Amino acid sequence: MPNVKVRISGRDSAYKIKIGSDTLSSAGPWVADCLKRDGCKVAIVSNPTVFQLHGEAVERSLIEAGFAVSRFLMKDGEAHKSLRTAEAALSFFSEAGLTRTDAVVALGGGVVGDLAGFAAAMYLRGIAFLQIPTTLLSMIDSSVGGKTGVNTVFGKNLVGAFHQPSGVLIDVDTLATLPQRELIAGFCEVVKHGAIGGKPLLKQTQKFLSTFPIEAFGDNQTDRGFRSEISKLIAANVEFKAKIVVGDERESSKRMDGRSRKILNFGHTLAHALEKVTSYQYFKHGEAVGYGILFAAELSKSLALCDEKDVKLLNDVAQSVGPLPALAKIDGDEVFEAFKFDKKHLSGSLQMILLKGIGKPVILTDNDIPRTTVQKVLKQLLKKWA
Ligand SMILES: NC(=O)c1ccc[n+]([C@@H]2O[C@H](COP(=O)([O-])OP(=O)(O)OC[C@H]3O[C@@H](n4cnc5c(N)ncnc54)[C@H](O)[C@@H]3O)[C@@H](O)[C@H]2O)c1
Ligand SMILES: [Zn+2]
Repeated sequence: MPNVKVRISGRDSAYKIKIGSDTLSSAGPWVADCLKRDGCKVAIVSNPTVFQLHGEAVERSLIEAGFAVSRFLMKDGEAHKSLRTAEAALSFFSEAGLTRTDAVVALGGGVVGDLAGFAAAMYLRGIAFLQIPTTLLSMIDSSVGGKTGVNTVFGKNLVGAFHQPSGVLIDVDTLATLPQRELIAGFCEVVKHGAIGGKPLLKQTQKFLSTFPIEAFGDNQTDRGFRSEISKLIAANVEFKAKIVVGDERESSKRMDGRSRKILNFGHTLAHALEKVTSYQYFKHGEAVGYGILFAAELSKSLALCDEKDVKLLNDVAQSVGPLPALAKIDGDEVFEAFKFDKKHLSGSLQMILLKGIGKPVILTDNDIPRTTVQKVLKQLLKKWA
């Protein structure tokens, strides 16, 4: 089964990302290996939904490996990725007696991973944490790269810290219990990686989805070929993200080249705007990204940056992921206004990631892109998707 190593510069050792089937049952020895110690205290951070399905295997293995295990279950949902929950986690770590040599294990999707990582970054100014992501999105995106944080009243993900995990353990069997909408959302980010990563990755995704359509995901889980191919696809995505992160760990605001960490935001200008105008209630984040990447590609074509063939390929692969929520009630002017939110909080200027072709991202600012072109493409697509 594939293993990916991530070497962050300035650190003495790389951390490992282990990917495979039935890996949860060896979580204990794996944590001991990542931390280079056993017998310390480990706090599992999860939520009731995930813990009920997959928690026992992890907890049992940790106890068998000699760890003193405690468990903090936060409420399920994006609304609970908050400072209030982070504070409750910190109190819990303190009551459980965690010291600087102890560790936090995040078991769940991106919400749990972001919150647990942020709490671990703050507790005693930073203790070790390990990620066991259980959604496709968290396996290929949020668990890799060291961004942790919470949402606040002034915006999503605007408070946080860079805190790299000591290891990431991916068990593809956990995807069997994931609702279909969450799978689709995760696959939209997989397609995003293909669009900016290059044709081999995009075609690997296309081939995977034509062999194993999402509707049959649960049934395929017993198929060894499926488990091997999904593991390889996740590994390819993780490798791609890790390569970008290692070259620009803290997302330098000055960098405007095609290897800047900012390119991972391909499709996110429209995604964030769609999420904002629907008060974060309507779309799963990945679903909004599904629309966002097609908008960015179409805009690239309108600006004569990207040719028709590549835009078509991207549309074909995105289509094969599955249905996205309808856009009928979305107002184009409101969406355009909402683009300003990213501008205000992220960089002072609106930076858009566009494509010169599959695997050739470019970063442009709103000064480089005629406002009328953006509005025209947006209106056209909203009409087409309504
Ligand atoms: N740190 C980063 O770099 C980064 C990158 C991308 C996204 N994110 C963050 O990730 C979050 C989204 O993550 P997500 O999409 O994983 O959502 P999520 O964590 O909310 O999980 C989605 C739902 O699936 C449930 N679930 C998780 N695993 C399951 C399983 N195996 N079986 C059944 N149900 C399961 C969860 O309980 C939840 O209800 C957002 O907060 C986003 O900001 C962070
Ligand atoms: Zn995203």
